[in-house]
Amino acid sequence: MKAIVAVVAALFTVAALGWALLAYAHSGHDGKKPARVPLPNMATYKGEQCVEPAAEMRRNHMKYILHQRDETMHKGIRTTRHSLKNCINCHADPKTGSVRGKDGFCESCHAYAAVRPDCFSCHSDKPEQEARNTAGVRPAAVRARAAENVRRAVSGKTP
Ligand code: HEC
Ligand code: HEC
Ligand code: HEC
Repeated sequence: MKAIVAVVAALFTVAALGWALLAYAHSGHDGKKPARVPLPNMATYKGEQCVEPAAEMRRNHMKYILHQRDETMHKGIRTTRHSLKNCINCHADPKTGSVRGKDGFCESCHAYAAVRPDCFSCHSDKPEQEARNTAGVRPAAVRARAAENVRRAVSGKTP
Protein backbone atom coordinates (compact mmCIF):
# COMPACT_ATOMS: atom_id res chain seq x y z
CA MET A 1 0.00 0.00 0.00
CA LYS A 2 2.77 2.43 0.96
CA ALA A 3 4.51 1.69 -2.32
CA ILE A 4 1.39 2.51 -4.32
CA VAL A 5 0.97 5.83 -2.49
CA ALA A 6 4.60 6.66 -3.22
CA VAL A 7 4.25 5.83 -6.90
CA VAL A 8 1.10 7.93 -7.24
CA ALA A 9 2.78 10.83 -5.46
CA ALA A 10 5.81 10.56 -7.72
CA LEU A 11 3.61 10.53 -10.82
CA PHE A 12 1.82 13.66 -9.63
CA THR A 13 5.11 15.44 -9.06
CA VAL A 14 6.40 14.54 -12.51
CA ALA A 15 3.14 15.63 -14.17
CA ALA A 16 3.13 18.93 -12.27
CA LEU A 17 6.74 19.65 -13.17
CA GLY A 18 6.14 18.86 -16.81
CA TRP A 19 3.10 21.07 -16.90
CA ALA A 20 4.94 23.93 -15.23
CA LEU A 21 7.82 23.71 -17.69
CA LEU A 22 5.44 23.71 -20.65
CA ALA A 23 3.52 26.65 -19.27
CA TYR A 24 6.77 28.57 -18.75
CA ALA A 25 8.09 27.66 -22.16
CA HIS A 26 4.95 29.04 -23.77
CA SER A 27 4.57 32.15 -21.67
CA GLY A 28 7.68 33.99 -22.78
CA HIS A 29 7.72 32.62 -26.26
CA ASP A 30 6.37 35.67 -28.00
CA GLY A 31 8.97 37.92 -26.40
CA LYS A 32 6.39 39.86 -24.39
CA LYS A 33 7.19 41.00 -20.88
CA PRO A 34 7.33 37.93 -18.66
CA ALA A 35 5.03 37.66 -15.65
CA ARG A 36 6.42 38.57 -12.23
CA VAL A 37 7.76 35.11 -11.52
CA PRO A 38 11.34 34.03 -12.11
CA LEU A 39 10.56 32.56 -15.51
CA PRO A 40 13.38 31.62 -17.77
CA ASN A 41 13.91 34.28 -20.42
CA MET A 42 12.84 32.67 -23.68
CA ALA A 43 13.29 35.76 -25.78
CA THR A 44 15.27 35.14 -28.92
CA TYR A 45 16.82 38.05 -30.65
CA LYS A 46 17.71 37.18 -34.18
CA GLY A 47 16.18 35.14 -36.94
CA GLU A 48 12.66 34.04 -37.68
CA GLN A 49 13.09 30.52 -36.45
CA CYS A 50 15.52 28.18 -34.85
CA VAL A 51 17.80 25.72 -36.64
CA GLU A 52 15.30 22.98 -35.77
CA PRO A 53 11.64 23.31 -34.71
CA ALA A 54 11.45 25.10 -31.36
CA ALA A 55 9.74 22.22 -29.56
CA GLU A 56 12.46 19.88 -30.75
CA MET A 57 15.15 22.33 -29.65
CA ARG A 58 13.59 22.79 -26.24
CA ARG A 59 13.87 19.06 -25.63
CA ASN A 60 16.94 18.08 -27.59
CA HIS A 61 19.22 21.09 -28.10
CA MET A 62 21.96 19.48 -26.00
CA LYS A 63 22.08 16.49 -28.32
CA TYR A 64 22.59 18.69 -31.34
CA ILE A 65 25.40 20.72 -29.80
CA LEU A 66 27.16 17.78 -28.21
CA HIS A 67 26.94 15.83 -31.45
CA GLN A 68 28.33 18.84 -33.28
CA ARG A 69 31.21 19.01 -30.82
CA ASP A 70 32.10 15.36 -31.37
CA GLU A 71 32.00 15.80 -35.13
CA THR A 72 34.36 18.75 -34.92
CA MET A 73 36.73 17.47 -32.24
CA HIS A 74 37.06 13.88 -33.42
CA LYS A 75 36.40 14.04 -37.14
CA GLY A 76 37.36 17.61 -37.93
CA ILE A 77 33.98 18.26 -39.52
CA ARG A 78 32.98 21.91 -39.27
CA THR A 79 29.50 23.08 -40.05
CA THR A 80 27.64 26.10 -38.75
CA ARG A 81 24.07 24.84 -38.43
CA HIS A 82 24.45 23.35 -34.95
CA SER A 83 27.60 25.13 -33.88
CA LEU A 84 27.61 26.75 -30.48
CA LYS A 85 28.71 30.00 -32.04
CA ASN A 86 25.62 29.96 -34.24
CA CYS A 87 23.33 29.52 -31.22
CA ILE A 88 24.98 32.45 -29.51
CA ASN A 89 24.82 34.69 -32.55
CA CYS A 90 21.03 34.47 -32.50
CA HIS A 91 20.31 34.06 -28.81
CA ALA A 92 22.62 36.58 -27.13
CA ASP A 93 20.82 39.49 -25.50
CA PRO A 94 21.85 42.66 -27.32
CA LYS A 95 21.89 44.53 -24.00
CA THR A 96 24.39 42.27 -22.26
CA GLY A 97 25.84 40.82 -25.46
CA SER A 98 25.61 37.39 -23.86
CA VAL A 99 23.59 34.20 -23.47
CA ARG A 100 24.64 34.07 -19.82
CA GLY A 101 23.64 36.08 -16.80
CA LYS A 102 20.45 36.03 -14.81
CA ASP A 103 18.24 36.69 -17.83
CA GLY A 104 20.54 35.21 -20.43
CA PHE A 105 18.86 32.84 -22.86
CA CYS A 106 20.87 29.73 -21.95
CA GLU A 107 21.57 30.46 -18.32
CA SER A 108 18.10 31.56 -17.21
CA CYS A 109 16.59 28.32 -18.45
CA HIS A 110 19.41 26.21 -17.06
CA ALA A 111 19.05 27.90 -13.68
CA TYR A 112 15.37 27.10 -13.79
CA ALA A 113 16.03 23.49 -14.78
CA ALA A 114 18.91 23.27 -12.29
CA VAL A 115 21.50 22.15 -14.85
CA ARG A 116 24.94 23.70 -15.15
CA PRO A 117 26.69 22.70 -18.34
CA ASP A 118 30.32 23.87 -18.19
CA CYS A 119 30.88 25.23 -21.66
CA PHE A 120 31.59 28.89 -21.17
CA SER A 121 34.81 28.49 -19.23
CA CYS A 122 36.36 27.94 -22.67
CA HIS A 123 33.73 29.02 -25.18
CA SER A 124 32.68 32.59 -25.59
CA ASP A 125 29.14 33.37 -24.45
CA LYS A 126 29.07 36.37 -26.77
CA PRO A 127 28.43 36.73 -30.49
CA GLU A 128 31.31 36.67 -32.96
CA GLN A 129 34.40 38.51 -31.88
CA GLU A 130 37.55 39.23 -33.77
CA ALA A 131 40.06 37.94 -31.24
CA ARG A 132 38.55 34.48 -31.03
CA ASN A 133 39.03 31.48 -33.25
CA THR A 134 36.37 29.81 -35.35
CA ALA A 135 34.57 28.11 -32.47
CA GLY A 136 34.63 31.17 -30.21
CA VAL A 137 37.03 29.41 -27.90
CA ARG A 138 39.40 31.48 -25.80
CA PRO A 139 42.90 31.16 -27.23
CA ALA A 140 44.37 30.66 -23.74
CA ALA A 141 42.05 27.73 -23.09
CA VAL A 142 43.03 26.17 -26.39
CA ARG A 143 46.73 26.64 -25.66
CA ALA A 144 46.28 25.01 -22.25
CA ARG A 145 44.64 22.02 -23.84
CA ALA A 146 47.32 21.74 -26.52
CA ALA A 147 50.03 21.87 -23.87
CA GLU A 148 48.27 19.12 -21.96
CA ASN A 149 48.12 16.96 -25.10
CA VAL A 150 51.84 17.48 -25.69
CA ARG A 151 52.61 16.51 -22.08
CA ARG A 152 50.53 13.37 -22.50
CA ALA A 153 52.17 12.47 -25.81
CA VAL A 154 55.65 12.97 -24.34
CA SER A 155 54.85 10.84 -21.31
CA GLY A 156 53.44 8.16 -23.60
CA LYS A 157 49.93 8.41 -22.14
CA THR A 158 47.73 9.24 -25.10
CA PRO A 159 44.20 10.31 -24.22
C1 HEC B 1 38.35 22.88 -21.79
C2 HEC B 1 37.78 23.82 -22.75
C3 HEC B 1 36.40 23.46 -23.33
C4 HEC B 1 35.22 23.23 -22.65
C5 HEC B 1 34.96 23.25 -21.15
C6 HEC B 1 34.21 23.00 -23.67
N1 HEC B 1 34.78 23.08 -24.92
FE1 HEC B 1 33.80 22.87 -26.71
N2 HEC B 1 35.57 23.09 -27.70
C7 HEC B 1 36.78 23.34 -27.12
C8 HEC B 1 37.82 23.40 -28.16
C9 HEC B 1 39.29 23.68 -27.95
C10 HEC B 1 37.14 23.18 -29.38
C11 HEC B 1 37.75 23.09 -30.78
C12 HEC B 1 37.77 24.46 -31.40
C13 HEC B 1 38.17 24.39 -32.86
O1 HEC B 1 38.80 23.43 -33.25
O2 HEC B 1 37.80 25.32 -33.57
C14 HEC B 1 35.73 22.99 -29.06
C15 HEC B 1 34.75 22.76 -30.01
C16 HEC B 1 33.40 22.67 -29.73
C17 HEC B 1 32.35 22.57 -30.72
C18 HEC B 1 32.54 22.50 -32.22
C19 HEC B 1 32.72 23.87 -32.77
C20 HEC B 1 31.37 24.52 -32.94
O3 HEC B 1 31.11 25.56 -32.30
O4 HEC B 1 30.58 23.95 -33.69
C21 HEC B 1 31.14 22.54 -30.05
C22 HEC B 1 29.75 22.45 -30.66
C23 HEC B 1 31.45 22.59 -28.65
N3 HEC B 1 32.82 22.66 -28.49
C24 HEC B 1 30.51 22.56 -27.65
C25 HEC B 1 30.79 22.56 -26.29
C26 HEC B 1 29.79 22.42 -25.26
C27 HEC B 1 28.29 22.28 -25.52
C28 HEC B 1 30.44 22.46 -24.06
C29 HEC B 1 29.82 22.33 -22.68
C30 HEC B 1 29.05 21.12 -22.41
C31 HEC B 1 31.86 22.62 -24.35
N4 HEC B 1 32.03 22.66 -25.71
C32 HEC B 1 32.87 22.73 -23.39
C33 HEC B 1 37.03 23.54 -25.78
C34 HEC B 1 36.12 23.37 -24.76
C1 HEC C 1 18.93 31.95 -36.96
C2 HEC C 1 18.85 32.23 -35.54
C3 HEC C 1 18.91 31.06 -34.57
C4 HEC C 1 19.94 30.14 -34.41
C5 HEC C 1 21.22 30.01 -35.21
C6 HEC C 1 19.57 29.31 -33.28
N1 HEC C 1 18.35 29.69 -32.81
FE1 HEC C 1 17.34 28.80 -31.26
N2 HEC C 1 15.70 29.91 -31.70
C7 HEC C 1 15.65 30.96 -32.62
C8 HEC C 1 14.31 31.50 -32.66
C9 HEC C 1 13.82 32.68 -33.52
C10 HEC C 1 13.54 30.75 -31.71
C11 HEC C 1 12.06 30.97 -31.40
C12 HEC C 1 11.21 29.83 -31.70
C13 HEC C 1 10.99 29.36 -33.11
O1 HEC C 1 11.88 28.82 -33.79
O2 HEC C 1 9.84 29.42 -33.53
C14 HEC C 1 14.46 29.76 -31.12
C15 HEC C 1 14.12 28.83 -30.15
C16 HEC C 1 15.03 28.05 -29.42
C17 HEC C 1 14.73 27.23 -28.26
C18 HEC C 1 13.36 27.05 -27.63
C19 HEC C 1 13.09 28.19 -26.69
C20 HEC C 1 11.71 28.11 -26.11
O3 HEC C 1 10.93 29.02 -26.36
O4 HEC C 1 11.42 27.17 -25.39
C21 HEC C 1 15.90 26.67 -27.83
C22 HEC C 1 16.11 25.77 -26.62
C23 HEC C 1 16.94 27.11 -28.74
N3 HEC C 1 16.37 27.95 -29.69
C24 HEC C 1 18.26 26.76 -28.66
C25 HEC C 1 19.19 26.95 -29.68
C26 HEC C 1 20.50 26.32 -29.74
C27 HEC C 1 21.07 25.41 -28.68
C28 HEC C 1 21.07 26.72 -30.91
C29 HEC C 1 22.41 26.29 -31.51
C30 HEC C 1 22.52 24.88 -31.83
C31 HEC C 1 20.14 27.64 -31.57
N4 HEC C 1 19.01 27.74 -30.79
C32 HEC C 1 20.37 28.29 -32.77
C33 HEC C 1 16.69 31.42 -33.41
C34 HEC C 1 17.90 30.76 -33.56
C1 HEC D 1 13.99 25.88 -22.64
C2 HEC D 1 15.01 25.86 -21.62
C3 HEC D 1 16.46 25.80 -22.09
C4 HEC D 1 17.13 26.69 -22.87
C5 HEC D 1 16.59 27.98 -23.46
C6 HEC D 1 18.48 26.18 -23.02
N1 HEC D 1 18.61 25.00 -22.34
FE1 HEC D 1 20.27 23.77 -22.37
N2 HEC D 1 19.29 22.46 -21.16
C7 HEC D 1 18.00 22.59 -20.69
C8 HEC D 1 17.67 21.43 -19.87
C9 HEC D 1 16.33 21.21 -19.16
C10 HEC D 1 18.81 20.60 -19.87
C11 HEC D 1 19.01 19.25 -19.14
C12 HEC D 1 18.36 18.19 -19.95
C13 HEC D 1 18.71 16.81 -19.50
O1 HEC D 1 19.57 16.65 -18.62
O2 HEC D 1 18.11 15.90 -20.07
C14 HEC D 1 19.81 21.27 -20.70
C15 HEC D 1 21.06 20.74 -20.97
C16 HEC D 1 22.01 21.35 -21.78
C17 HEC D 1 23.29 20.77 -22.11
C18 HEC D 1 23.79 19.41 -21.68
C19 HEC D 1 24.42 19.46 -20.34
C20 HEC D 1 25.11 18.17 -20.01
O3 HEC D 1 26.12 18.25 -19.32
O4 HEC D 1 24.63 17.12 -20.43
C21 HEC D 1 23.95 21.67 -22.90
C22 HEC D 1 25.34 21.51 -23.49
C23 HEC D 1 23.08 22.81 -23.06
N3 HEC D 1 21.90 22.58 -22.37
C24 HEC D 1 23.40 23.94 -23.79
C25 HEC D 1 22.56 25.02 -23.97
C26 HEC D 1 22.92 26.24 -24.66
C27 HEC D 1 24.28 26.52 -25.27
C28 HEC D 1 21.82 27.04 -24.64
C29 HEC D 1 21.67 28.42 -25.21
C30 HEC D 1 22.01 28.60 -26.64
C31 HEC D 1 20.76 26.33 -23.94
N4 HEC D 1 21.24 25.12 -23.55
C32 HEC D 1 19.47 26.83 -23.74
C33 HEC D 1 17.14 23.63 -20.93
C34 HEC D 1 17.41 24.73 -21.74
